[in-house]
Amino acid sequence: MNLHARRPALRPAVPFAQTDSRAAFAADVVAGLSEARKRVPAKYFYDRRGSELFAAITTLPEYYPTRAETAILSAHAAEITAALPAPSALVEFGAGEAVKARILLAAAPHIEAYVPVDISAEFLAEEATRLTRDLPRLRVLPVAADFTGAFDLPGEVASWPKAGFFPGSTIGNFEPAEAAAFLYEAAHLLGPGARMIVGVDLVKDATILNAAYDDAAGVTAAFNLNLLRRINDELDADFDLEAFEHCAFYNVPVHRIEMHLVARSSQRVRVAGRVFDFRRGETIHTESSYKYTIGSFAALAAGSGWTPSALWTDPDGYFSVHLLSRS
Ligand code: AVI
Repeated sequence: MNLHARRPALRPAVPFAQTDSRAAFAADVVAGLSEARKRVPAKYFYDRRGSELFAAITTLPEYYPTRAETAILSAHAAEITAALPAPSALVEFGAGEAVKARILLAAAPHIEAYVPVDISAEFLAEEATRLTRDLPRLRVLPVAADFTGAFDLPGEVASWPKAGFFPGSTIGNFEPAEAAAFLYEAAHLLGPGARMIVGVDLVKDATILNAAYDDAAGVTAAFNLNLLRRINDELDADFDLEAFEHCAFYNVPVHRIEMHLVARSSQRVRVAGRVFDFRRGETIHTESSYKYTIGSFAALAAGSGWTPSALWTDPDGYFSVHLLSRS
């Protein structure tokens, strides 16, 4: 039985589900481009092409987070899961292909139920079949929902001790106040005695961070520019993709990578029946990726209903996996 064997996937695993209607997409883009500092929410990166590009990013030599987190989980799966009572249920927020959850599940027979939360019911059903085949002892109870909104857990695990799992440092794509709200909601959803396992990218040398978000092969640039292609295709817009360029930099005082699309010249763009003017050098802010110190993440968790209980990092100290217990 090889739990980590690659299988054909229906779609690449994505951090954010695409639930929004065309009307919501149009309203968000028009509102964002109308602001004094133009912006478009990062969740709109993940159409099919964007999801493929994100999957490619996770394998880039410069993009260390996926490798570092996978190494931590593989090296410490038994310790990370040792604090969970027997039996426990593992609830993954934004499960995708469950690649990282499989590392924990394979090492922890006392996790007897797995609740993947993902927007695609079809994808969940396929993945549940594969997991049940690979780990017949495991009860797989998928929930088709957008994990950033409200949803209920399956009645079968109502009385079980539960652990949340939120890998990938997707928490870094939330504004810190949103991250706190997410952790607070998760504490209530998971109930008394809950644990939470969260992957968090760490503050580090700006050179390493800048390279991770501006790779030599230009995959992250293509990922960023794909947003304009998507807006053109879906919102009847006329962005000239050659007239914008990718820019990513670590904003030291606020501890975040910022991704922008920079106008190479002054220009006028039509989007969903509206007109937007760009000055040369003006940017659209497309993503923030917050980096935490061990202490700043512990403080965020402590203010959101959790007690930091343990933590693991990779040998370089680039990435962290935190075990939290419900306060
Ligand atoms: C999904 N998320 C954690 C990625 C990150 O590192 O913030 C998204 C990403 N953007 C550019 N590269 C990767």
